[in-house]
Amino acid sequence: YIMAGPSLAEVTRRYAALTGRAPLPPLWALGYHQCRWGYQYEAEFRELAVRFAAADIPVSALWYDIDYMDGYRLFTWDRVDFPDPAALNRDLKAMGIRAVTIVDPGVKREPGYAVYDSGREQVAFCQTASGREYVGKVWPGDTVFPDFTLETTRTWWAGWLTAFLRDSAVDGVWLDMNDPATGYSRTEEMRFSHGAIAHDRYHNQYAHFMAMASQQACEQRDPEGRSFLLTRSASAGTQRYSAVWTGDNASNWQHLRMALPCSLNLSLSGMAFNGPDVGGFMDDTRAELLVRWHQAGCLFPFFRNHSIRHSRPQEPWQFGPGPLAAIRGAIHTRYRLLPYLYQCFFTHWRDGDPVIRPLLYHYTGPEYVDLDDQYLLGDALLVAPILHGEGQGPEIVRADVKMQERSVRLPPGYWFDLNRGEWVEGGRLLAYAAALDELPLFVRDGAVVPYYAGLLNNSIMDWSSIELHLFCRKQSARFEYLLDDQVTRRYQSGAYGVARISAHLVGERLTVAIAEAGAYPQDTVRFIPVVYGRPEVRELEFTVNGRTITRPLQTEQREWLCRKWSVRA
Ligand code: GLC
Repeated sequence: YIMAGPSLAEVTRRYAALTGRAPLPPLWALGYHQCRWGYQYEAEFRELAVRFAAADIPVSALWYDIDYMDGYRLFTWDRVDFPDPAALNRDLKAMGIRAVTIVDPGVKREPGYAVYDSGREQVAFCQTASGREYVGKVWPGDTVFPDFTLETTRTWWAGWLTAFLRDSAVDGVWLDMNDPATGYSRTEEMRFSHGAIAHDRYHNQYAHFMAMASQQACEQRDPEGRSFLLTRSASAGTQRYSAVWTGDNASNWQHLRMALPCSLNLSLSGMAFNGPDVGGFMDDTRAELLVRWHQAGCLFPFFRNHSIRHSRPQEPWQFGPGPLAAIRGAIHTRYRLLPYLYQCFFTHWRDGDPVIRPLLYHYTGPEYVDLDDQYLLGDALLVAPILHGEGQGPEIVRADVKMQERSVRLPPGYWFDLNRGEWVEGGRLLAYAAALDELPLFVRDGAVVPYYAGLLNNSIMDWSSIELHLFCRKQSARFEYLLDDQVTRRYQSGAYGVARISAHLVGERLTVAIAEAGAYPQDTVRFIPVVYGRPEVRELEFTVNGRTITRPLQTEQREWLCRKWSVRA
């Protein structure tokens, strides 16, 4: 295939049209996720939920790594450590916290274990050239591998997985080791189609077919709903079934820096829903690194804290009050911006534009070509995280506060600095210093940013009122807000609407017009305009679906990250 551009955006969209676009995730999957290899007891999960609440940090999902299983047997629970997993997961869900379990492809080779016996009977496992079962060495020891390229195997797998998800009240599936990792056994000896097809034919698509089979299970379990899968390996098109994370990174600054080009390149390659292990997986993380990693990752499409067993614990509260406050700020920013993030996913599904983008996606010039230490979320938000620690780069001290400095490439036009609450002129490289609790974040002139102003209670959110944060200096603002039920897949058959939003300023008056069209009932969302950086604006003329009201605007204090400043609302 040859993708004719000429622009990067057109190439990306065409590639996405060819290989498929990521569907809308369930809303909870866009929140903050907490994971760790080593969580092993029911009490730990209950304790985590309590600690998050006490720390005033929303968390949308807790993850079960391999230790929940009975001897690493798929679709089982260790009943000593987890006497009643369904009850536990239902209790978590009542608090707005979903459960995600790891599911590796490798099935323990153990006669008498029902999953193995039934797979053997169905001839569901990969074979060698001589027609024997291919045996790898993974967590449970001798392991056999479902041949996901066979439709019969996918159906067999989906049957087991559907029952497991239902019986354990689990909402998300984490597909790992599907590269496939076979331990000490030679991977090339694993063949497909009852031994007839050589390994290399499907090696790179093993995970793809596994994701396909697993998504089938999610749909069987909830025919109307949306699934959430996360996979380590993938191939062109896997984005139709699963999100991707970037695998086993390490807790160091170099891997933090690498996370940006990694996620941006995945994004340009159709994998819109992706992200790294925040905090770093291997080795011990440190306070400053953990904070900066949360800031860099809080606006990535996928946002999960994960670490290897025996490493230093890295939940947000592990390093004391200062780092905790800074991490809380980053996570709150994510939840406040969820309506905007959701719109970015919606646009991706509709048009193929990635959720996060290198600046090159929207701006041309040699200065953007190798720029991979800052990114755009949608086309309005510029994120330029601090990617070095104390003593590794320029540092300045302002009013006794240590700040790390970096350069930020601001494209032409005006940008609103969300830390300082002021407009900055772009078209230049800006030296920008940020304290530990600051994430350099800029909004383009002419942007509308949908913002959640309600209670932060894990994934329990009420989106019936959405604030429209308006950033107009020289430009009028425009936005298409896509409306749907946010729960089902009905949007895929056209059941969604578009609210066309425009805003402009003339003297002391702000004029905002919203017109809803399309296959979704009107007036289901109450939009509330909020203006940034224009204290002279005193009056709002607000038209929604043809009805106009005019009212004075009040100055209010607003919070974004840890900063507060005045806006007109
Ligand atoms: C692999 C995964 C990692 C997981 C571990 C144990 O290394 O990439 O995320 O924690 O296996 O399941």
